[in-house]
Amino acid sequence: MGLLTGETLGPLAVAVAVFLLLVDLLHRRQRWAPRYPPGPMPLPGLGNLLQVDSLDRRCSFTQLRHRFGDVFSLQLAWTPVVVLNGLVAIREALVYRSEDTSDRPPVPMFQHLGCGPQAEGVIFARYGRAWREQRRFCVSTLRNFGMGKKSLEQWVTEEASCLCAAFADQAGRPFSPNALLNKAVSNVIASLTFGRRFEYNDPRYLKILDVMEEVEKEHSGFLTQVLNAIPVLLHIPGVVAKVFPGHRAFMALLDELVAEHRMTRDPAQPPRDLTDAFLDEVEKAKGNPESSFSDENLRLVVSDLFTAGMVTTSTTLAWALLLMILHPDVQRRVQQEIDEVIGQARRPEMGDQAHMPFTMAVVHEVQRFGDIIPLGAPHMTSRDTEVQGFLIPKGTTLITNLSSVLKDETVWKNPFCFYPEHFLDAQGHFVKQEAFMPFSAGRRSCLGEPLARMELFLFFTCLLQRFSFSVPAGQPRPSDHGVFGPIVNPSPYQLCATPR
Ligand code: HEM
Ligand SMILES: *[C@@H]1O[C@H](CO)[C@@H](O)[C@H](O)[C@H]1NC(C)=O
Repeated sequence: MGLLTGETLGPLAVAVAVFLLLVDLLHRRQRWAPRYPPGPMPLPGLGNLLQVDSLDRRCSFTQLRHRFGDVFSLQLAWTPVVVLNGLVAIREALVYRSEDTSDRPPVPMFQHLGCGPQAEGVIFARYGRAWREQRRFCVSTLRNFGMGKKSLEQWVTEEASCLCAAFADQAGRPFSPNALLNKAVSNVIASLTFGRRFEYNDPRYLKILDVMEEVEKEHSGFLTQVLNAIPVLLHIPGVVAKVFPGHRAFMALLDELVAEHRMTRDPAQPPRDLTDAFLDEVEKAKGNPESSFSDENLRLVVSDLFTAGMVTTSTTLAWALLLMILHPDVQRRVQQEIDEVIGQARRPEMGDQAHMPFTMAVVHEVQRFGDIIPLGAPHMTSRDTEVQGFLIPKGTTLITNLSSVLKDETVWKNPFCFYPEHFLDAQGHFVKQEAFMPFSAGRRSCLGEPLARMELFLFFTCLLQRFSFSVPAGQPRPSDHGVFGPIVNPSPYQLCATPR
């Protein structure tokens, strides 16, 4: 202790500071690569964390884009991040450079929640064999669904009837549609994964839905962000159980459903659903340590399908109904098309889409305007790559600003208005638009897109075939501004559903 006199303390402090700065610089060496995208000057240790005010991200990011252009860099503590904006840059990165940009940044929390190297689910799986196997499996199961008895389209159509019945039960009184939309949409995932649906008032179903809501809150919570930023904290005994009780409860509920499934499964019959098909693959993979088909991974894949497939679709439907009560003229034109093409006697089918350009345009415009996942899902470069002439080294997190594509002012006539004509030509035919990217693009794009499109079209047309929707008498016109978050919901609203 005697050594730490005033004279030695000074130089020692300087040495420690220099050492820490060097460690810090080492973790940010990416930035010194030639042609690295420009960005604000990072502080030692924190990087730009203070500059991107997490409460007001939209604003601070808009300023950064103005200053640095469509491709700019940030340093979030020790994580190098490149933000991509606009159709041209995002298409180049996700489509033309897909091979280099399809990894995901590691999420430390998942390593403590039952994920292992061969069991990573799909959404957050690293770019490699386990991801490729599971992605291929999900895509082909979705495509082949219905080899058995009932096609996915039949499941969705029948669920749409149940949803209509529940709307009719409201007897024209004002209500908020979100809870019922959630129930209908999760039942579609339940039919895909477990070959069954639940009654809307089944206590077990209500518990599952409650737990899923809790999981969503846990995953986007502040504490989770802190734990992911400072992963050593996850090693403190008891922390994981304390912070993620919902996640555990959800996994336990899924395990129960899988266990019930095993008992009723008949291996001689074709698979009834995704779980059966998965169990067949587990059987085939016995003795292959490299395979990602395992009991641990089954629950993660199923849980991924529920989390990715539910809130996204039901939020989009909540936007659709909100926009219909705000734009009654558009609602009337959709109903007119339904009456002409389908009538009242039969249920809508996917085949009707080809004859319903206006309805198709409205559904697309709902997704464009609703813009529910503004920043997409994070990607990471798996090797050095180039976007818009900038060099992006391996291991850089990429944020794809899908919102900047869906509302790109150089592409859309009225980017900030609800305007179905964006998807119609002068003759009233439906036209596809390259900048329609709510499902992202490239190898990591949404694998549930065909199912999501089916649900959006069938639920939407079934509802408008049976009901007219309106702002409840005496209530103010709801706002069409979203509530910003990882998923953008419409501001809470009520509507009246009047039978037609
Ligand atoms: C309107 C509804 C939906 C929207 C807007 C949507 C959008 C997205 C987006 C933006 C991504 C991230 C893509 C990327 O990383 O670049 C994604 C990924 C994913 N989505 Fe969807 N999605 C929807 C419905 C669904 C449904 C119904 C399912 C399930 C059947 C699903 C399953 C997935 C999965 C598994 C991934 C991860 C893919 C991967 O990492 O390889 N989604 N979705
Ligand atoms: C994404 O794009 C929108 C629209 O151009 C913009 O307002 C927002 O600030 C952008 N966000 C980021 C993270 O760049």
